Amino acid sequence: MDVESTYDDVAAEYDTWVGAGSVLADPTFEELIGSIDGQAVCSVACGQGREARYLATEGAAVTGVDLSENLLTLARRHEEADPLGISYLQGDAHTLEGLATESFDGVVCYMALMDIPSLDSALQSIARILRPGGWFVFSITHPCFKTPATGDLIDHTNKSVRRTVGRYFSEGYWDGPGLHRDALPIGAYHRTLSTYVDALTRAGLVIDQMREPPLDHQPVWREVPQLLYVRCHRGTETLSTH
Ligand SMILES: C[S@@+](CC[C@H](N)C(=O)[O-])C[C@H]1O[C@@H](n2cnc3c(N)ncnc32)[C@H](O)[C@@H]1O
Repeated sequence: MDVESTYDDVAAEYDTWVGAGSVLADPTFEELIGSIDGQAVCSVACGQGREARYLATEGAAVTGVDLSENLLTLARRHEEADPLGISYLQGDAHTLEGLATESFDGVVCYMALMDIPSLDSALQSIARILRPGGWFVFSITHPCFKTPATGDLIDHTNKSVRRTVGRYFSEGYWDGPGLHRDALPIGAYHRTLSTYVDALTRAGLVIDQMREPPLDHQPVWREVPQLLYVRCHRGTETLSTH
């Protein structure tokens, strides 16, 4: 599959938006990851490296992989400024070529599966590089509440915000991200919740925990989850039920 890097054009803006050189601070992500001291962890679709830096500060030996050369240039620049021992590799999540089979204790994919065209290929590559029993933590925009037709309404009885959701069944590429358009490429891939669960199962990744935290960033996110977090482990058998 020939995949184009849609983040190259917005790399500088994305870096500024998420915090150049910052270390990711996300309590839900941290809770799901737990203790990782001494583990080999791969950050797939690592961008400018914010979650890779979190993993490294927790004592993991971290490899970050991303499609975007421009984001990786920034990630390497941040690593040079504040060395944490992170290795960065340009690569496609669909294959994770160059990463050895069963070579990682854990894999993370933070806020990126929506940007990757083939969910099955990405999850199967992730399962391939995990040792049996290894863990996988990912976060995505919540597929049930951030669909290709999402809006917010004010409830005039008490001025609270309500979310409206449409086109849930319209899977595939859509003119996605609503906020922060200057720092994100146009378009993302919408999938239903059952598509995510079935693809994980096909890849032999078993769900252990899910989180849908209330967030303070937007009033409606306190009432309706904007993000979904999942922790899985690689089972002993890889299923293939296409
Ligand atoms: C929303 S950004 C998230 C980046 C980083 N995880 C973070 O949270 O800052 C999505 C990332 O997915 C990467 N990406 C998209 N398609 C990819 C692919 N096929 N293989 C590897 N990375 C990919 C983009 O280059 C971008 O860095």
